[in-house]
This record gives sequence, C-alpha cells and structure tokens, in this order.
Amino acid sequence: MTRSHTFSSLCAGFLERLSYQTLDATRAEDFPALAEKVGTPRHGVAMFLSTAPSLFEQTIAGLSACGLASGTSRIGLEKPLGTSLESSALINDAVARVFSEDRIFRIDHYLGKETVQNLLALRFANMLFEPLWNASHIDHVQITVAETVGLEGRVGFYDGAGALRDMVQNHMLQLLALVAMEPPASFDATSIRDEKVKVLRSLRDLQAGDSVTGQYRAGAIHGVAVPGYDDELGRASDTETFVALRAHVDNWRWKGVPFYLRTGKRLPERKTEIVIQFKAVPHSIFAKQGAKAEPNRLIIGIQPQENIRLSVMAKSPGLDRGGVRLREVPLDISMPNAFAGAKRRIAYERLLLDLIEGDQTLFVRRDEVEAQWQWIDSIRAGWAENGLDPKTYTAGSWGPSSAIALVERDGVTWHD
Ligand code: BG6
Repeated sequence: MTRSHTFSSLCAGFLERLSYQTLDATRAEDFPALAEKVGTPRHGVAMFLSTAPSLFEQTIAGLSACGLASGTSRIGLEKPLGTSLESSALINDAVARVFSEDRIFRIDHYLGKETVQNLLALRFANMLFEPLWNASHIDHVQITVAETVGLEGRVGFYDGAGALRDMVQNHMLQLLALVAMEPPASFDATSIRDEKVKVLRSLRDLQAGDSVTGQYRAGAIHGVAVPGYDDELGRASDTETFVALRAHVDNWRWKGVPFYLRTGKRLPERKTEIVIQFKAVPHSIFAKQGAKAEPNRLIIGIQPQENIRLSVMAKSPGLDRGGVRLREVPLDISMPNAFAGAKRRIAYERLLLDLIEGDQTLFVRRDEVEAQWQWIDSIRAGWAENGLDPKTYTAGSWGPSSAIALVERDGVTWHD
C-alpha cells in the first residue's frame, strides 16, 4: 500500500466517525438530540466549548440537563472567559456548578506551543541558567508578542477587548509566569500551576507612567498599504491595539528586575520572543584597553523563529597591538535544525489530545485566571483614573514613540 493510499484510508475512517449536530444553545430542548448522537462512549466524553461569553451559562446548563456533563466527562473552554475578574468569576461559577475543577480545561493556546514548553526544559533541564536566573544577575526581561495582522474580521469582539485583555491577560502573563516561577517539584499539573500562580499573585500594581497604549493608523506592512483601526472599525474608538508595560514581580528572586511587556497589532513583523538581559560583568579587565564587554543576553524565539540565542563576548582575532578588541558573538541554537526530522505539532493538536487524555498540565487553573484578571483590572482602573488614551502609531511601526521612552527612561532599548 502506498503512503498516500494509507493516509486516505485513515482519513476516510476518521471522517466516518464524525457527525455534525446543530443546536441553539439558548433552547434547552435542542440538547437531548446532541446527547443522543454522542451516546455513551466507553471512556467518557471530552467536550470543547468555544462560544460567546453570553452563551456560556445556558450551554453548560443544557449539557448538564441532557446528561453530557456527568461522571467523567471533561470540558475544554476557549477564551474569552469574561472581560474582568467579576465576569470571569460568573463564568467560572457557572462551569463549577456542573464540572469539578479537575474536569475543567481552560485553554491558553500559547501553553501548547512547542517553544513555550521548551522554556521549561531550558530552565529546569540545564544547570547552566538557573543559578543566574535572579535579580543578582539579570538586569531586566523583555517579552514581545508582535503581530502584523489587524482586526481580521473580529471587529465586534476585539473592540470590546483591546490588546491588554486579548493578549496580556492570558498569553503574555503565562509567558511571564513560566520565566519567573520557582522550580516546580515535578512536571505535573499541580506542581507547575502552584508555582505559576505564586508569580501571578506577586505582580505589583502598576504606577501611572508604567504603561503606554496605542492604536494603529493607516500605514504599510511589508510594503503593502493597510487601513487604520478606525477605518477598519468604521468609527472612532478608544480601544488599544498596542500596549507596553513595565511590570515587577515582588518577591526575593526578582527584586528590582523590570519585566517589560509589549504587544500590538499591525507591527512591522510577526515575532514572539523573550529576552533575558543579564547584568554587566562587575569589573571589566579590558576597559583600560578601550574594549567594552557588553552584558550577555539570552533571546528565546518563540515564533516564527524557534531558536535560542545567547550573546557572549569574544576576542576579535589579531595581534592586538592597539589593545584587545572584543565582539559580541551569538551561540545560536535553531530548534528546527537541532530536531530536523522530528514532526512539529501545532498547539491545538497537543492541547486537544491532552484534553481527551485528561492531562491538565498545560491548562490554566481557576486561581491563575483570577490572579491574572485581578492585575489586569487594576491596570484598567488606573487607566480610567488617569484618563489614559491610546496614542496613535503608523501601521508597520513599533508602536507609539512613548513606548520607546518607557524603557529608555531606565536606560533600556527594546530588542527589535
Ligand atoms: C488570540 C488573540 O488569543 O491569539 C488574537 O485573540 C491573536 O488576537 C492570537 O491574533 C495570536 O495567536 P498566535 O498563535 O498567532 O500568536
């Protein structure tokens, strides 16, 4: 049998097992037909709910009434799960009335990304970094999630959310938690989530001046003209499509280390990366010769480049009659090259399989979500109090100039 023949017969077998059932989530009488179609599978039911927040309660109630929520069945929940601590608590309460926490799988698809999990391997499977992973050796951390896309037809949803709630509340805070957490005792759901939630609860409330927001105007991405946010929306709006923050994790390990977070739509390139900026050597023996030892930097590329790059100082070759010359050179590990031949899996492939098998390690627990919302709500309250309005930026630029000023005040430049 040829490979393509095997694939098409596997595919046909799989498709035969799929069926489609429409229902109106607001009509309780529609649910029994779904339950009938599902039947009583031997290993229980794994459900995945991706719906508007306003339909959550009724959908869960409907699943419960028709018997689909009972026993060992599990539910995967896709965002948005609310727009504030209060509204997310209402959704979480509605789900908790029917499913115990060990059967609830809140998805943050960034946790399903191979390179995000690799962050755990980098930190906890190597001796090299952990002794340096603290305020004594790290100057600051930068987390960038840059996108080139605009509204992508999600006008209704996005304008009610904005970059802070759409990207920072979930994906960026999860990345921050993985960077900042203490070593968990083991790689299991409770150990990992216990450590993450401690970080999320240690986030300091921002001061006025710790955040910058922006909204894109018409510009060009990769040479192609794109409209402004207000043009796409068809009206003026004060929703932010860019946000930059200076955050702090108030604990021993991270005392005085700023975490600069930045995300936005219509930026010049699609790039998610984490930069760990180490401190300078305490005393440079090369200074008298006029050579500068730049501080080391570890750059963890999450997407689209999946690589880990450590900048180290090296001596430029030569006889050095005029004094030693130093240059920064990268130690570069490209994941696709290092694992050539290994099949790369997309986030949802991994997460849906974990949901089916009941492994919660890469799903977000309720206390994490609530700690995330608490911090985000306090930022939004500060914005409202100080009347912070998004500054405009041209599509294809790295956001408003005040985002550059935010870090420059600390003597830092964004890694673009
Ligand atoms: C989603 C946001 O959660 O993540 C989108 O709602 C965003 O606005 C998307 O575009 C980004 O995901 P990825 O995997 O493309 O980085």
